[in-house]
Amino acid sequence: MSTLLEIEGLTKRFGPITAVDDITFSVERGEVLGFLGPNGAGKSTTMKMATGYLSPTAGNITVCGYDVRLHPIEAKRRIGYLPEGAPLYGDMTPNSLLNFVCDIRKLPRDQRRQGLDHAIESLHLHQVLHQPIETLSKGYKRRVGLAQAIVHDPDVLILDEPTDGLDPNQKHEVHKLLGRMASTKAIIISTHILEEVDAVCSRAIIISQGRIVADEKPSQLEARSRFHNAVGIRIAAEGAERCVSVLNEISEVHSVQQVVQPSGLNELVAFSANGGNIIGQVRTAIDRSGLDVVEMFIERGRLEDVFRDLTLGAPAAAEVKEEAGNA
Ligand SMILES: Nc1ncnc2c1ncn2[C@@H]1O[C@H](COP(=O)(O)OP(=O)(O)OP(=O)(O)O)[C@@H](O)[C@H]1O
Ligand SMILES: [Mg+2]
Repeated sequence: MSTLLEIEGLTKRFGPITAVDDITFSVERGEVLGFLGPNGAGKSTTMKMATGYLSPTAGNITVCGYDVRLHPIEAKRRIGYLPEGAPLYGDMTPNSLLNFVCDIRKLPRDQRRQGLDHAIESLHLHQVLHQPIETLSKGYKRRVGLAQAIVHDPDVLILDEPTDGLDPNQKHEVHKLLGRMASTKAIIISTHILEEVDAVCSRAIIISQGRIVADEKPSQLEARSRFHNAVGIRIAAEGAERCVSVLNEISEVHSVQQVVQPSGLNELVAFSANGGNIIGQVRTAIDRSGLDVVEMFIERGRLEDVFRDLTLGAPAAAEVKEEAGNA
């Protein structure tokens, strides 16, 4: 694997606000990195700096060996960037915008034809190719933005919420497209859709208040969740109470949580006492009890839980001091 993007000590201040605070990471060819974090965490600001559209207060960015500040043209040539929101130039059509991008990027004729065909085909733009962008629906605008990011077949793709506003079919198509491109590129996507991390990312960075708070494989992040190796059970209402007692008697079970679904079905979660696999013990106990269980499954862990813990953790030192002062 080769490192295609290197970010070192990246910091951005807007007056008194530190939007990005000393961030360091690199991305290899073949990696799809999910960039997660609450609103205002600094994801878009980091992406704007990585693509050379915003200059950092401090730090270095290298794209395919080219320093973005010293060799901006060489670096930008190797980057495809989908910014937040809708594409610029709303009065252009997707066709004229994509051709315009090819002109700016000075793509040779054969590469241009290939790039246009691939982008239009992959994002299913045929139908809207000659319609002004400002009259397109939100999802189509997003797809035009994605098309302009990939038309020159860049080594590094930086996509700020690429599936925002896409319908489930198009979301699936974009996931497949990312999967197809993954082996030959370094890809960063920001997203608020945590299932997307499992669907497309080989690695995830969680950023909070401008700093990296986790940088791991999705499975490692999930393993931090209290739901990791918990056993979920769906059972009809009449058996639920006895099932809770049966589960509570298992020594490897730490506790049992019960949720009544709107459908009337009860969902029970048996948490593992030591984080280990308890499905064998649970199955034996349920079989012995004769309870009629609808479904039983092992939880991998819930990213949502981990995300919350990491980003809502302890209040910042300044806030603690302030609260103490007010007490
Ligand atoms: N041009 C600017 N001037 C002043 N502050 C800014 C500017 N751009 C961003 N910020 C601030 O920087 C912080 C990080 O913003 P950023 O857009 O990077 O967050 P984000 O993680 O992308 O959030 P979201 O999930 O809402 O897209 C926020 O506090 C934001 O208000
Ligand atoms: Mg953003």
